[in-house]
Amino acid sequence: MADRARVAVFISGAGSNMAALLYASRLPDCPYQLVLVASNDPAARGLALAQAEGVATFTLPHKGLGRVEHEAALERAAAEAGAHYIALAGYMRILTPQMVSRWEGRILNIHPSLLPLYPGLDTHARAIAAGDSHAGASVHLVNEELDGGEVLGQIPVAILTGDTPEALARRVLAAEHQLYPRVLAQYVDRERSPEWLAQQVRERALALPETDEVSSHGMPCFGIVKGRKFAYFSIDHHGDVKTALLVKISGADEQAQLIENDPERYYRPAYFGDGWIGIRLDLADVDWESIASWLQRSWRSVAPKKLTGLMDAADNF
Ligand code: GRF
Repeated sequence: MADRARVAVFISGAGSNMAALLYASRLPDCPYQLVLVASNDPAARGLALAQAEGVATFTLPHKGLGRVEHEAALERAAAEAGAHYIALAGYMRILTPQMVSRWEGRILNIHPSLLPLYPGLDTHARAIAAGDSHAGASVHLVNEELDGGEVLGQIPVAILTGDTPEALARRVLAAEHQLYPRVLAQYVDRERSPEWLAQQVRERALALPETDEVSSHGMPCFGIVKGRKFAYFSIDHHGDVKTALLVKISGADEQAQLIENDPERYYRPAYFGDGWIGIRLDLADVDWESIASWLQRSWRSVAPKKLTGLMDAADNF
């Protein structure tokens, strides 16, 4: 069974969505766990709740600090807690594009409207004023655009005759608490699916020059066209219960070193010998940039000179 994805939640206020995420994570089979609740406001009520529930917290008021400096401290706290995802839940600070890009595809937010309608503030008043039949909430990935990233899930909430923004906000909030845990769980769950993991490896492997895919003992396997193999995607190979990428390395010394440094992630793949390393992809924290570099390095080690020469030239350019 794969590990549970590690999530940090950033809040600024009541933290009722954080509470919804937290309690959902304590039910059986939830694929994520909260490893940190962080806030820019020491008075945020959600902090006391997180503490009482045994979740680590981190607070740093933003007053007097530059945006980059403040954000860097929260980011560091998330990284130190081992978070692989950040869930924004009523976090009232805008993240810099640099941070967003460092966590690409791994920061989610909940917004109280049916995006792309009504990004920004006062969403309920705007929906009522527009005469909409429904308001609602959206969970989306965070990109550089305010409330602009890919929408992962939505829930509509009917607007009643005579609704005030406050009354509507209360009902939308109840709907948010249903939506956020469900969408977060589904999103992190992709990383447990061998098909999704294989597709991530495939896209990166096939992006390398003259690579093709064949199947070897049922494993997707990548090589230079009509040449040597440089990567295998291994699922439960000989019953080892692992989902992993196998790539070429320099030999027994490097293999031993990698395994010693991170024995959970790296292993000696059975039947492959000293020239290969197994890298687990089922620990819910894959760094895909690092996987892309492993693939490239492995590709280089088997590619003919005429191809690596081109790549060396491009690198030196
Ligand atoms: C929610 O309405 C959420 O959609 C918005 O901020 C509010 C946070 O509420 N982003 P809470 O702090 O989770 O109770």
